[in-house]
Amino acid sequence: MLILAGCGGPQSALEPAGHAAQDIAEIFWWMTAGGVVIWIAVIALTIYAVRIPPEAHNQRRTSYLIIGGGAVVPTIVLTVLLVYGLAPLPHLLAPAPEGSLRIFVSGEQWWWRIRYEVPGKEPVVLANEIRLPVGEPVEFRLDSPDVIHSFWVPSLAGKIDMIPGRTTRLALTPTRPGVFRGACAEYCGTSHALMSFYVIVHTREDFSRWLAHQQTPVIPSDAVVPARGRELFLASGCGACHTVRGTPANGVIGPDLTHVGSRLSIGAGSLPNNAEALLRWIARTEHVKPEVLMPAFGMLPHEDLQALAIYLEGLK
Ligand code: CUA
Repeated sequence: MLILAGCGGPQSALEPAGHAAQDIAEIFWWMTAGGVVIWIAVIALTIYAVRIPPEAHNQRRTSYLIIGGGAVVPTIVLTVLLVYGLAPLPHLLAPAPEGSLRIFVSGEQWWWRIRYEVPGKEPVVLANEIRLPVGEPVEFRLDSPDVIHSFWVPSLAGKIDMIPGRTTRLALTPTRPGVFRGACAEYCGTSHALMSFYVIVHTREDFSRWLAHQQTPVIPSDAVVPARGRELFLASGCGACHTVRGTPANGVIGPDLTHVGSRLSIGAGSLPNNAEALLRWIARTEHVKPEVLMPAFGMLPHEDLQALAIYLEGLK
């Protein structure tokens, strides 16, 4: 069991929390079982072949063994496994039913731009965090502005490429609440490995409450938002790349930061979300995520960095 100890956790395909992931895990176990049986048979035959004296076999039986064991049996076994492996594909690739929740995800270098379309309202835009209601089908529409990424939440579903100039789709239904980790599964540049995200599966009520909150802008007069950090944020040019709804900051190059303080991580899973980590990120982006687009603001005085970090942390 020790060798399986690393197979659990929030990013495990072997602890499925979605219908699609369940199908895939089942295929994995059957394929593994098939592989183990074949391996044992091959090893047994090898031991047998090494130990018997050469004259024990006549020509005819040897031919049967080679044709049967070398061609017929592998053809049957591989055909069965292939058919079994392909059988769930139509189900895995089927779109979500009409009217299901639709989430648009764009793979950026190196983070995830998330957009929820809300009928009759402004879409909700955030980054590196997806929340879903348990038991409801959801359809992801995936694309990328420049390079190919691959969207993968192993606990919930299979992976699918995000291809520039094309929209790919992935439907899934989470089956239990929890926090799951997703990752980019296609090499997409220097910081490919620093491009993860979290999927939080809630009850319907908690999900609706969260979505409604994400729709609200930050309230400028809110006492929990320190004025100094807000001023610095606007004066330092952060708003050219980032949006904070409810303030003049409306850039769209980088992640929307309206409710950044409510997310589980910053820098697409690179750091935990707290003032200390935010300060580190702002001051030394390149050290946290090599070749990231966002310039470091290490030239700002420490108190200013602190004020900025506290401001962002307060954007719950
Ligand atoms: Cu995005 Cu690898």
